Amino acid sequence: MGFYEDYAARTPKSAAAAKRAQAVIPGGVGSAIQFWPPYPIYVDDSRGAYIWDLDGNKYIDYSMCYAAMVAGHANPVINEAIKEQTERGILYGMPGESATDLALEIQRRYPVIDMIRFTQSGVEATMYAVRLARAATGNMGILKVEGAYHGANDMLLVSTAVPSDVAAGPAWMPSSVVESAGIPDGAWQHTYVVQFNDLESLEYQLKKHEGDIACFILEPCMTNGGVIPPDTGYLEKVRELTKRYGVLLIFDEVKVGCRIAAGGACEKYGIEPDLVTLAKAIGGGTPLGAFGGKRELMNMITPLGPAVHFGTYNANPLTTAAGLACLRKVLTKDTYRKMDRLGNKYAAGLKEIIERLGLPACVTHEGPLGGIQFVPEIPHTYRQANKGNKKMWN
Ligand SMILES: Cc1ncc(COP(=O)(O)O)c(C=O)c1O
Repeated sequence: MGFYEDYAARTPKSAAAAKRAQAVIPGGVGSAIQFWPPYPIYVDDSRGAYIWDLDGNKYIDYSMCYAAMVAGHANPVINEAIKEQTERGILYGMPGESATDLALEIQRRYPVIDMIRFTQSGVEATMYAVRLARAATGNMGILKVEGAYHGANDMLLVSTAVPSDVAAGPAWMPSSVVESAGIPDGAWQHTYVVQFNDLESLEYQLKKHEGDIACFILEPCMTNGGVIPPDTGYLEKVRELTKRYGVLLIFDEVKVGCRIAAGGACEKYGIEPDLVTLAKAIGGGTPLGAFGGKRELMNMITPLGPAVHFGTYNANPLTTAAGLACLRKVLTKDTYRKMDRLGNKYAAGLKEIIERLGLPACVTHEGPLGGIQFVPEIPHTYRQANKGNKKMWN
């Protein structure tokens, strides 16, 4: 039996669920990434590192919702915190104390974060961080990395997953490719693209658009479409160059924050950006994001300054209580040591399988975060990773 025949034979209830959902929900999924052909499995239950689909098949979940579930599915500590909060209400539209406690916990992990504001998701966190950078500098230009995803907002949905046959321009001077219909030119035409781990590329764009760039937003360790850690010395030089050109540096730590170390990439790589965006792990699986950084910048946020940040569900007690339980009680020093051990074991196991089967593939990882890349040599840039064998990947 081939892979797809076997898949169909094992998942008839998911096939039926997909058909039912597709009539009322585009693609039958809540986010395009949840779809894969012929149809995704529909989940019935989850616990710890496991999920069960509607047909009762049990799977190890290596994705954990892209790190949002880093504490494990149905974690009893987080469930208890949520239950306790629900008894006192889940949304006030007025401040409570758990947001302050969570802010202080994040500040303890991230000395660079003097002040922080909470959002519901990563896409809002990056949107507000960029708005703040634009407000603070008066410049409209944004630098981002080719192949990096920072959420689906108009100004950042540029060159996020450009296929290799479309990727335009030399690797060190990529063109900006807008990735959705319905985005007005004015929204993305100030977004310029550089290649990760390529200082020539960064300096070229910094010089070309000198005086027009508000910020360089990047994932300090690339995570989308395969993990690409920074080359030695890259981030130090990024910090130096952005300072030299008067450009604010935003670390998008939505995926790596509080995950590759207690203090995320800032701690792991010892770099101080101006702003940091967070989500996923900080909410213990609930929809929580955040952006924070230097006090003089955060002082520009409403009501202190002119850069607007609003939101009915911002800093709601349900998500901040879950986040607090996750950071204080689950993601302890011991947990980070354990995650690193497991990450190393996982990477070593994958490498062994690749060697045994003689696959043209390699393994990239940063602590607990990583996986297979279907290219023979470790990639250092999106262009190199993007040459990977898509069929094998699927
Ligand atoms: C690096 C990065 N930034 C931002 C986002 C957007 O986060 P969200 O899906 O919570 O809106 C993602 C989503 O995966 C991400 O990986």
